[in-house]
Amino acid sequence: MPPSAIPEPGVRPSEFRFHCIDCGHLSDSTSPDYRCPRCGDLLEISFPEWNKSGLSSRASGVSANDLKSTWKQRRLSSAPADLSGVWRFRELLPALNDGYVVTLREGNTPLYEMPQCARIAGVPHLAAKHQGMNPTGSFKDAGMTVAASFAHHAGYRWIACASTGNTSASMAAYAARGGMRSLVLVPEGKISWSKLSQALDYGALTCQLRTDFDGCLRLLQELVLRAPVHQLNSINPFRIEGQKTLAIELMEQMEWQPPDHIIVPGGNLGNSSAIGKALLEMRNLGLISRLPKLSIIQAEGANALVRTLREAGGKRLISVSAETRATAIRIGNPASWKKATRVLEATGGACEQVSEVEMAQAKAEIGAEGIGCEPASAVTLAGLKKLVKQGFVKAGETVVLILTGNLLKDPDFTMEFHRGDLFAGSPHESEMTALSMLRRPPIVLDATLDEVLRTLEQADKTAPSG
Ligand code: F0G
Repeated sequence: MPPSAIPEPGVRPSEFRFHCIDCGHLSDSTSPDYRCPRCGDLLEISFPEWNKSGLSSRASGVSANDLKSTWKQRRLSSAPADLSGVWRFRELLPALNDGYVVTLREGNTPLYEMPQCARIAGVPHLAAKHQGMNPTGSFKDAGMTVAASFAHHAGYRWIACASTGNTSASMAAYAARGGMRSLVLVPEGKISWSKLSQALDYGALTCQLRTDFDGCLRLLQELVLRAPVHQLNSINPFRIEGQKTLAIELMEQMEWQPPDHIIVPGGNLGNSSAIGKALLEMRNLGLISRLPKLSIIQAEGANALVRTLREAGGKRLISVSAETRATAIRIGNPASWKKATRVLEATGGACEQVSEVEMAQAKAEIGAEGIGCEPASAVTLAGLKKLVKQGFVKAGETVVLILTGNLLKDPDFTMEFHRGDLFAGSPHESEMTALSMLRRPPIVLDATLDEVLRTLEQADKTAPSG
């Protein structure tokens, strides 16, 4: 089978460098672990020409308005890179020297109005950008198309990641599309079957390690120094570049009028870092005139960033031993904590935590809106309720939630919730009775018309009013 990478002559070579987020060291190349050769901290991609050219875009000197109309026009094109909701914004991405793009038509995700959830949260206007509508069902695809394309271009045979499930599903798909092999390291028993099954079907070599996500990531960091595998976790700064486009596309969908708040779940903290980087770059390039506040919500049982900010003033990471049913964000030692801390500072955002029950309730409420998401994504609505109560989100302010994963990613959680046995035998069990109004358990009946009619009539009497 020939690799299905797509030559894309429209992608221009661009000037970018690797910039250490701590010591500021600049370089043109990196080591396989994507760590600063001087101090060992994380790297980010910087575009030196942008700083020189101020409001105009890099090199070509086109204005912010030119960029906006170019991106709009590409919606009419059928070129593969233009059909991608990531590569459509390629002027703000590091471009490939030889122009190879591995794409599954990622991005182009919907921005949904959420009137019922707005009422519940107590805000006049709420929308959700649903990254779970990406090809493999999560926001990871936006970053993966960029990182996988660069890995493919560099000629890597193997790409690898540690994952709580979504990264591995996405990476396996892009590896297959780019003619590469993929190695997946996941914590045994702690990822959903849906995600695991995706990696298997896309052909990954899938290893379930007897450890947690943090243990998998530690092992991967050592592995890439010993074996010719290329790591595609969000430590890889190309992933961050791709994930930036979520925010660019969101601004385009909002006619370049930023909302007052964007709220995102926090796990390994790559996504919040990417959204923050995009917002700052868009402001610096004159694409938007003000910054939304970007807030990060974590599960109480995986609250490393919350504790890092509250107990150490954001100066050093406080790791935790993570435990939550939102397995996607069951992470205790987030790699990008420093980037995320800076993004919160730069945008004036908040960092909050929510309980397991608050998350389960919010997930059911997002589902009842006809949208749905996986548990980790639902922390955004649960967090918003808290931020409204605290007065951080004020009356009249506009809010966008980032829903990171599709409802179908974790059917066990959803089924257990509706059957009423989510958290059975745990300390949260008694709190769940308060949520019984949200439950819609399946009903087993004899296959007779009478039985179904009687059930329908009963339900009609008790149906919640719209
Ligand atoms: N939401 C979902 C659905 C996720 O899968 C993840 C992370 C997050 C939120 C948190 O994003 O790590 O950028 O802060 N999932 C990773 C994975 C860790 O391996 O799939 P983050």
